[in-house]
Amino acid sequence: MKAILDCDPGHDDAVAMVLAARHFDLLGVTTVGGNAPLWRVTENALKVLELIGRAEVPVAAGAAGPLMGELPRAGARVHGETGLDGAELPRPSRTVVPRHGVEFLVETVMANPGTVVIATGPLTNIALAMRVEPRFARSVARLSIMGGSTTWGNVTAAAEFNAWADPEAARIVFTSGARLTMCGLDLTRQAAVDADAIARFRRVGTRTAGVVADLLEYYRAATERVTGAAAVPLHDPCAVAALCAPELFEFAFARVDVETRGDLTRGMTVMDRRTLTADEPTRETNCRVATRVDRERLFELVAEALAACP
Ligand code: BDR
Ligand code: CA
Repeated sequence: MKAILDCDPGHDDAVAMVLAARHFDLLGVTTVGGNAPLWRVTENALKVLELIGRAEVPVAAGAAGPLMGELPRAGARVHGETGLDGAELPRPSRTVVPRHGVEFLVETVMANPGTVVIATGPLTNIALAMRVEPRFARSVARLSIMGGSTTWGNVTAAAEFNAWADPEAARIVFTSGARLTMCGLDLTRQAAVDADAIARFRRVGTRTAGVVADLLEYYRAATERVTGAAAVPLHDPCAVAALCAPELFEFAFARVDVETRGDLTRGMTVMDRRTLTADEPTRETNCRVATRVDRERLFELVAEALAACP
């Protein structure tokens, strides 16, 4: 299956890249300002692709900040100043393709029917692609999003980081008519990485596994300083696995929209439980919501992908 990964690496984004490169025909990686400024996350994407021996995958830099306002700095709390603190990776030997990330998304999706898009950062690029090319939303075979929550948030009481960082973009995407899969915090919290899980990834023994273990230990410890929790959710790989290993998940269908105005709730994804159905999408639902994941098998999938890397 052909895929584009739109991301803001980001520790868990880096693991999502490992999984996506293993399980998809990865047509490209587009970057978006989020966990760190755009130039940082773009450099990180290039570094990770070189680390995993996939330097031929094109990287296109997209939007530097949200549709409205400035890029928030909240990502630095858990991802560090570079967005990928915790391991020293060599400077990349190549640079981005000379196309804007939004242009790359539109052109690649329109030229490759059946392409899926996996979005693991703020939804700015995806919303812009939908605005630039009205056929984009329906042309994406499936858009798998790590973002939002059906209960409580992580940046605020109500909002998850990716939705909170660009609520207007998230609203455009959730109301676009695209075939959506949502992996929100309720799901990703089931896939939390503790010291044992990190040790297990390290034991895979490849250079990539060692670097990923170092990165995850930084991410885990930084998150523990902020939240007090000893395990950190492996958010972004869930959005990849929901497409390449759906048998590890349970899904429901529901209508999900995004609050853009509330003082306390800006960036909250609101799932209308009245529309919730376990079986089939209905006229009222707009989203396939991942509700459960098998943590052990997900980590097995990650370990297998790490073993396939240099
Ligand atoms: C999301 O925010 C970022 O910090 C992570 O990379 C993930 O995409 C989790 O809220
Ligand atoms: Ca991310």
